[in-house]
Amino acid sequence: MKRLLFNVFASVFCALTFPACAHATSNNAEVPAETEIPADETIQLKEPDKTLSVSLMQALSDRKSQREFAEKPLSLETLSSLLWAANGVNRPDGRRTAPSAVNSQDIDIYVCLASGAYLYDAKQHRLVRVTTEDVRKQVAGRQPMAAPVFLVLVGDVSRYPGGMSSQRQVLESLAAMDAGYVSQNICLYCSAAKLATVPRASMDKDALTKSLQLKESQILLLNNPVGYAR
Ligand SMILES: Cc1cc2nc3c(=O)[nH]c(=O)nc-3n(C[C@H](O)[C@H](O)[C@H](O)COP(=O)(O)O)c2cc1C
Repeated sequence: MKRLLFNVFASVFCALTFPACAHATSNNAEVPAETEIPADETIQLKEPDKTLSVSLMQALSDRKSQREFAEKPLSLETLSSLLWAANGVNRPDGRRTAPSAVNSQDIDIYVCLASGAYLYDAKQHRLVRVTTEDVRKQVAGRQPMAAPVFLVLVGDVSRYPGGMSSQRQVLESLAAMDAGYVSQNICLYCSAAKLATVPRASMDKDALTKSLQLKESQILLLNNPVGYAR
């Protein structure tokens, strides 16, 4: 009885005296860190959060195209997990979360933010700035679409073995298939993380080819705007 009374007293005392502390401790355990994406030339990404525990069947149930985005930005942590899920390195031999024809790893992701466009370097899990221009309107193209982040999927046919170089049409179709896998990874991650996205083929390709300084072997294939649903 004495012990019970002591416990009740101790609980009430703690709750009244340190409410903020108690709240902070329990919140810290639940709320993941939220770092602003820096506007640096090179951005080191965070380790992906592989503990996100939504079942594959639930993510498939919830997947849908969403085209209206809130202004709320993505955190560095969320962007890091998103890119790793999209096409990050998931094995010691450097292979990726998305399959690619003859393991060409031909799909590059350009991450378009207000502070410029960055190339995702999967090996180093970092972003390297390609331009300080905000190219998101070019990615939106003629379709009204405003999102904090656009992921642009670019295939590079020069990554295929030299013996295949004469078959440009075949390589372009393999690259398009490979981009589909990356885009689907993005869609499923967004579904699981309660983010909004839509796979899109439309974009202003002429303007983007110039802004992203793409080579002749690089093809703009798909893009996914990503943000929180409005
Ligand atoms: C290859 C491909 C290209 C697409 N291009 C666009 C696009 O340019 N603009 C757009 O709003 N939606 C685009 N979509 C999204 C489709 O319109 C959408 O997936 C379809 O209406 C089915 O809706 P759901 O994704 O909610 O199932 C594209 C989808 C795919 C697979």
